[in-house]
Amino acid sequence: MIKIAVLVSGGGTNLQALIDAQQAGKIENGRIALVISSNPQAYALERAAEAGIPTEVLRRRDYDSADAYAHALDARLQAQDIGLVVLAGFMTVLPDSFCRAWENRIINVHPSLIPSFCGEGFYGLHVHEAALAKGVKVTGATVHFVSEVVDGGAIIAQKAVNVEEGDTPAVLQRRVMEQAEWILLPQAVSDFCAGRLTVRGAWVERKEKE
Ligand code: GAR
Repeated sequence: MIKIAVLVSGGGTNLQALIDAQQAGKIENGRIALVISSNPQAYALERAAEAGIPTEVLRRRDYDSADAYAHALDARLQAQDIGLVVLAGFMTVLPDSFCRAWENRIINVHPSLIPSFCGEGFYGLHVHEAALAKGVKVTGATVHFVSEVVDGGAIIAQKAVNVEEGDTPAVLQRRVMEQAEWILLPQAVSDFCAGRLTVRGAWVERKEKE
């Protein structure tokens, strides 16, 4: 059984999707053991508490450097024997050393079809604002392994979502969550924990269930 840590900063709807999947028995060979928030006000903390999952708050501003922050984070994860880290709306960029140490064991969900609308500055609602400003007809979500390049790691899964006339960033964000993120993320986490994912360079191979 792989112990999963979910890192959050905000509302935590993706965390909720993971909790719901776990409660429905859909996370094979994995268990959410810890939720860490970079923000003490995050509603995600309440979702975790409601589900009986231990929580911790680690604020970036309480540490002198990104490395010191990552070191503290790493210590928490090691202490709990975590085997998979899931970034579910986690808004703090992690330093290269952390990404290397956890290579192929950190999964992120991003609210666009990477490589569109991703990288530094593209997070949360800003991603949808940029998609609407460009006038794209299709956007979506991507679940990927985290590498040293922001939003640049090997892609596990993607799902396209239509943009509709008159969409606001908030309306589009909700549609992308409902139609893509909340489906892709629990599936990817389950696939990881069940040992179905193999990284071959930029390509992630997914074994079908036997
Ligand atoms: C989600 O849309 C997630 O994909 C995005 O933030 C939102 C968090 O919502 N993440 C990023 O933009 C990371 N670059 P949630 O707290 O309700 O899961």
